[in-house]
Amino acid sequence: MTTQTPNLFSPFLAGGLQLENRIVMAPMTRQFSPNGVPTQDVAGYYKRRAQGGTGLIITEGTTVNDEVATMDANIPQFHGDAALAGWKHVVEEVHSVGGKIMPQLWHVGMARVAEKAPFPELASAGPSGLFKPGKQGAEPMTQAHIEKVIGAFAQAAADAQAIGFDGIEIHGAHGYLIDQFFWEGTNQRTDSWGGSMDNRGRFAVEIIKAIRGATSPDFPIVLRYSQWKQQDYSARLAHTPQELEAFLLPLSEAGVDIFHCSQRRYWESEFEGSELNLAGWTKQITGKPTITVGSVGLSDDFFGAFKGQGSETRAVDDLLERLNKQEFDLVAVGRALLQDPNWANKIRDNKTEELKQYSASALASLS
Ligand SMILES: Cc1cc2nc3c(=O)[nH]c(=O)nc-3n(C[C@H](O)[C@H](O)[C@H](O)COP(=O)(O)O)c2cc1C
Repeated sequence: MTTQTPNLFSPFLAGGLQLENRIVMAPMTRQFSPNGVPTQDVAGYYKRRAQGGTGLIITEGTTVNDEVATMDANIPQFHGDAALAGWKHVVEEVHSVGGKIMPQLWHVGMARVAEKAPFPELASAGPSGLFKPGKQGAEPMTQAHIEKVIGAFAQAAADAQAIGFDGIEIHGAHGYLIDQFFWEGTNQRTDSWGGSMDNRGRFAVEIIKAIRGATSPDFPIVLRYSQWKQQDYSARLAHTPQELEAFLLPLSEAGVDIFHCSQRRYWESEFEGSELNLAGWTKQITGKPTITVGSVGLSDDFFGAFKGQGSETRAVDDLLERLNKQEFDLVAVGRALLQDPNWANKIRDNKTEELKQYSASALASLS
């Protein structure tokens, strides 16, 4: 297949990042880290994906140092000696087989259900205390809390660099804390953190700048964002390319190296009159490399996975055509890689008949 998929298996070079191919493991929460500490099983799980030919692994969301950043005690955290030692071991295992890995730094914001989370006595955090329009769960975040969380992201990035990660990804997508700032539906602040697009983007801009200041200039910063929200799949941050430009340029200027553009189906065009998807527009507007994602190698979007549904495998030909045209630079794969650690090598070697069909039962263990 090497001849048919030259660009999927061509190296990628940007700033301080060198990858053997264009396949990225998408971040997927697995909840197998008791008390927030990633175990040997977690290390083995990522090592198998690196051995299977994945060019870059982005870990499951791992939470920054704020009591209300997480929503479950089995989600790995990215602070404290035990968790960082666990992550260091994950990095060593992945590097030992030639892989590359970045943690996805996360704060869940108002998606946290206090009663089910660590520190149930504490209120969840959001720009306006809203999980979605009309669903108030807390008071708006204070200035001091906002500054604390910005500092927590910067510290996590500095720690990531110190323990050997190849960069970091900021989780700014899917209706979690950073996206709650981006989205008018959950950000109704009237101070400098809300209102205009610039103000709503400011929380992320300050996080990016703080991370830049806490890490070396060539340490890669990836930002994941999405138009859709878990609260409303049809929500949009930008309705036109002009609005998207106003949203993206401050983030790009603050220091993002790569944008990870989350769609439920990568083949859906973003704006009428053009076939470009979200990653395509983002690359065109910012001039920065982009990662596309959404049902690669599968026939339907991933919400079924949470209802216990599987998905048929699907040819990747149209994806390759877009990659060849340089609509985007990297391709993230979620469920297909969760199901099959050797997905990348099987595509490379044209062993598509050996690909395992995705079944939601794969969520039950770290195989
Ligand atoms: C079990 C599961 C957990 C996920 N957890 C995260 C997460 O922690 N952070 C994130 O940004 N996206 C998360 N996602 C979304 C995936 O990164 C990806 O965008 C989505 O699954 C679409 O890719 P796919 O169709 O290749 O699976 C998750 C998806 C699944 C299926």
